[in-house]
Amino acid sequence: MKTISLMSAKGGCSKTTTSINIAVGLAKNNKVLLIDLDPQGNSSKRFFTNYLELDGICELLRKEKSNEECIHHTQFDNLDIIPSKRNLFVLKKEMLYASHGIQQLRLKNVLDPIKKDYDYIIIDNHPDIDLLISNALLCSDMVIIPVNPDADSIELSDSIEGMNLTLANIKEAIEEGEIGGMDFRILLTMTDNTKASRMFEEYLRSDYGEYVLQTNINYQSAPIKNKDRSGFVIEKDDTRIGQNYQLLVDEIRSLS
Ligand SMILES: Nc1ncnc2c1ncn2[C@@H]1O[C@H](COP(=O)(O)OP(=O)(O)O)[C@@H](O)[C@H]1O
Ligand SMILES: [Mg+2]
Repeated sequence: MKTISLMSAKGGCSKTTTSINIAVGLAKNNKVLLIDLDPQGNSSKRFFTNYLELDGICELLRKEKSNEECIHHTQFDNLDIIPSKRNLFVLKKEMLYASHGIQQLRLKNVLDPIKKDYDYIIIDNHPDIDLLISNALLCSDMVIIPVNPDADSIELSDSIEGMNLTLANIKEAIEEGEIGGMDFRILLTMTDNTKASRMFEEYLRSDYGEYVLQTNINYQSAPIKNKDRSGFVIEKDDTRIGQNYQLLVDEIRSLS
């Protein structure tokens, strides 16, 4: 059983697209639970158009509803999801002012009894560094940080900055004894044949070596989301991006 968080202090680097596609891919052979820990509910809306009506992570963390009420089967065999919506913003505030219990451990406490039912738990995180991220770190075995080539120089790149902030946050959590350690990997996303893309890849592979996943996710110019807004590109094995995600799923399986 392995819990993997998709995390970066930068929005738009492919955390959600990667979370949903590896969750769908892993579910072909394994029992998978996808947790949407972003109050914007971007993963949730890809699976359920009525996600605002569903009980999810907020109700579960508040212990207002049972596991059965908050965990939803998806249209994919072996793939369940705990959805999220904007009330998670309110819970975040409640956690900040709560005077009882260890707020960083709330997600771990909820997941510990559920873990036995799954082979993988994938957590799609939002780009902030806050209590929700601490909760994700305290129950993750591995963090995958997506980095997209978003500038002509490494220094001007928001996605490199987002990666560095996330790595610094993980380091701090280790130093403060919140977590014993953390396995992490960097995933190159939205790569193409431009000079900038090659420069990002050379920089990351030379500085981070084995921590950079072998598989890159190519940039796809056609919209990722279809008319049905799902964006399950891994289902389209005649596309480059579909094949990339399948290779990534194989690589993630080989890590465990
Ligand atoms: N490989 C890709 N090629 C082209 N567009 C992509 C790719 N991956 C993600 N996108 C698009 O980039 C935007 C941000 O992706 P998303 O997964 O929502 O990022 P995040 O969750 O990190 O904010 C979305 O519009 C998504 O469709
Ligand atoms: Mg997202």
